[in-house]
Amino acid sequence: MQATKPSADAYARRALARLIQPQPTVDAIGAGLTFYQLFTEDDAALRAEAEAGLLAPVASVSPKFFYDALGSRLFEAITDLPEYYPTRTEAAIFSLHAAEIALRVGRGATLIDLGAGNCEKAARLFRTLAPSRYVAIDISADFLRDTLRALARQHPQLPMVGIGADLCAPLVLPDAVGDGRRVWFYPGSSLGNFTPEEARAFLSRLHEGSAPGDSVLIGIDLIKDARRLEAAYDDPLGVTAAFNLNVLRNLNRLLGANFDVRDWRHVALYRADAHRIEMHLEARGDVTVRWGKQARAFAAGERLHTENSVKYDLPGLQAMFADAGFEDLHAWTDAGGDFAVCHASVGR
Ligand code: TRP
Repeated sequence: MQATKPSADAYARRALARLIQPQPTVDAIGAGLTFYQLFTEDDAALRAEAEAGLLAPVASVSPKFFYDALGSRLFEAITDLPEYYPTRTEAAIFSLHAAEIALRVGRGATLIDLGAGNCEKAARLFRTLAPSRYVAIDISADFLRDTLRALARQHPQLPMVGIGADLCAPLVLPDAVGDGRRVWFYPGSSLGNFTPEEARAFLSRLHEGSAPGDSVLIGIDLIKDARRLEAAYDDPLGVTAAFNLNVLRNLNRLLGANFDVRDWRHVALYRADAHRIEMHLEARGDVTVRWGKQARAFAAGERLHTENSVKYDLPGLQAMFADAGFEDLHAWTDAGGDFAVCHASVGR
């Protein structure tokens, strides 16, 4: 199943290729905010990627197709659900350990938010970390631009750079990012959406793109009871189901496909052996999906794999950060041991 998904490295290579193409769209939105649309991924490439996933023996969709404007809003709604504990647990860790986190991370850094979403998590850290610049990167560029416009008004003293990019770790950043000490911020257990090998490779790339003294601040979900995990990814209100199913609307728009959302059911299951939640869309009956000259038949019960969310324990995290070259790992957790905020540095 994993093999059918494009690897994080493949993403990175393609994204880097795009990043070094000249002429990003830049707009200076107001005092202190610059926005870069670093790529306009050509539709042909996106379509080819979506098509390859759909035609693979075990069909899959790249998670990047979740995040149109509606997908971003649905994800925000997920974080409000009582069952989805990660977001609020992470926030609680940040506020409970604020002083200690500030001491370790240090004030006055360039805070680089990888997959910023609604920028709420980073914004809550502005007081604690007092960054000298805020750099927000997200694939959902329009959503990010709107969010940053509002945020810049609330923080007129803080220079901000927005980057619309299909990449969690762009190591070639526009000059506007500056060369101040960097703190790579990757909250929300997004690291868990890579396979463990990809996650280690991702951390290694961040390490390579860092100077001595730079660091990472990463929030990651921990292994726990399967029932609580499954509830967090399959809530009774159906918000997570809607978020997952929305990918089909995105595919319809991108490919001109004829997915009918009603033909599909959201499935979330925890594989304890691999410590991961798997998200699928399961065909309720036999369905044939058509687009252009292509078609893919799904038998009743057949699944389209959309996302993994890998859970870690502290020894596993320790090993992974060390493998990627980081030093001085410190992890803060909540009292229940549900979630960890990790900080690790690049040695001198
Ligand atoms: N990073 C989030 C997580 O793994 C992403 C996420 C939450 C998600 N709920 C989801 C992804 C449902 C796909 C489907 O916790």
